Amino acid sequence: MMNQIWNALRDHHAAVEGRAILELFEDEDRAAVFSACADGMLFDYSKTNIDARGLSLLLDLADNAGVAAKREAMFTGVKINETEGRAVLHTALRNLDVPVIVDGRDVMPDVRATHARMQAFARDVRQGRFTGQGGAITDVVNIGIGGSDLGPAMAVLALAPFHDGPRCHFVSNVDGAHVHDVLAGLDPTTTLVIVASKTFTTIETMTNAETARRWMAAKVANPAAQFAAVSTAAEKTAAFGIDAARVFGFEDWVGGRYSMWGPIGLSIMLAVGPEGFDQFLAGGAVMDAHFRAAPFADNLPVLLALVGVWHNQICGYATRAVLPYDQRLSRLPAYLQQLEMESNGKRVGMDGADLTMNSGPVVWGEPGTNGQHAFYQLIHQGTRVVPCEFLIARIGHEADLRHQHLLLVSNCLAQSEALLRGRSLDEARAIMAKKGLTGDELDRQARHRVFPGNRPSTTLAYEQLTPFTFGQIISLYEHRVFVEGVILGINSYDQWGVELGKELALALQPVLEGKAGTEGKDGSTRQLAQWFKG
Ligand code: F6P
Repeated sequence: MMNQIWNALRDHHAAVEGRAILELFEDEDRAAVFSACADGMLFDYSKTNIDARGLSLLLDLADNAGVAAKREAMFTGVKINETEGRAVLHTALRNLDVPVIVDGRDVMPDVRATHARMQAFARDVRQGRFTGQGGAITDVVNIGIGGSDLGPAMAVLALAPFHDGPRCHFVSNVDGAHVHDVLAGLDPTTTLVIVASKTFTTIETMTNAETARRWMAAKVANPAAQFAAVSTAAEKTAAFGIDAARVFGFEDWVGGRYSMWGPIGLSIMLAVGPEGFDQFLAGGAVMDAHFRAAPFADNLPVLLALVGVWHNQICGYATRAVLPYDQRLSRLPAYLQQLEMESNGKRVGMDGADLTMNSGPVVWGEPGTNGQHAFYQLIHQGTRVVPCEFLIARIGHEADLRHQHLLLVSNCLAQSEALLRGRSLDEARAIMAKKGLTGDELDRQARHRVFPGNRPSTTLAYEQLTPFTFGQIISLYEHRVFVEGVILGINSYDQWGVELGKELALALQPVLEGKAGTEGKDGSTRQLAQWFKG
């Protein structure tokens, strides 16, 4: 059945490929029909080439892929991460009152207990009861990478208007420049270091943690007392010397890139306080409820996924630009790169067979309006089509700068309009003629000013970027990834593709130290290793 639907979608695409999306708006209801609302958010996908037939086939795809059954399996703790034999329960971290049974045991009492310990610790730090050697904690350094960094780093930036706790800094790269530059401005006697690593083995994080401990030891008698850890590996955090009272554990059913809702979000809680953090969880939970209950045709995560499948697997657009017109979401594209590309960048299906179509898209982007003055040239006039996903708040936080928010919104709306409408040769010629150009020069100049238009985009509009809304947005994207993964028949929750590079890096370390030879290496790697050895 799935094959038939895929083929029908391809045939439908071939039939409608050349038409102008703009003409679809002759149906005055189009914008309303090809939009969905949920809990104060509006998702408008009417500026795409999806019509009633396309949408109905896409919805058939979701139905026949078993999205509904797999969704319930995920929420109820079934081990859907089959290649690692794990449940996928990040949703449990934001639905604290709902029992979830894994291996015959309700896991929620432990989740709630850890959440309460995080709250107590955050209050102690924020209210000056937990101090450093030099007094109240002024700065928090979160050392982690990937899912143990990108989410909290994004969130702390996103929630700046709610930030009333200590300053938060993030160190991820194994490049010593990162830890050096972050620590350079800080006072070790009033700094709290959080070592955030699900496995507590990640080489970047453990190396940076050692460096931070040395830095602190130069000024602080008992540096371990100013360290906290977030991990699933309690014995490893103990071996590192961190007191169990400041270790916040979680289970292996929380994937790294889905983990900021629990202890990995400790830096967020320190920044905005336990109440603000709970608002973030509440937003995520509201989106969970919507995802579980809304019919697919009105279901935001399902619709985002179906638009993604249409553009990537059916139209063949290899990339997806995420363009938040919200400076505080400037790290959202980087966060989504991990969430989407680590989850759905797979070439083998759950059944062990090679995928017969493209896996998830390349995700990239920058906040608007900055991107407009950089890469939008290619988006508007390049030879490749890049589906664009705009995000915009109705209300900014800066009450005294309303005119700037208005400018921001008008730019956001203008970009999707320009992508849709384009500018014809005749229109470009008329503009050049008005400027006084004539003859060949008018023709030549006008051609450069043509915009082909007919380029698809979607807009996700929300009220204001609060902790609650932020939770809704992140949960929305998580579920979108889930739905796309189910439709593609892949496991979105493992990440074997990151392992080979790690193994080879470990093997190259002794080569660069001169303790091992380059036998078995290819000529280029031998040459590069030799060059670095000098
Ligand atoms: O190498 C990839 C990865 O395993 C990610 O999936 C994860 O978010 C990141 O490394 C960090 O892992 P950890 O939290 O175990 O240090």
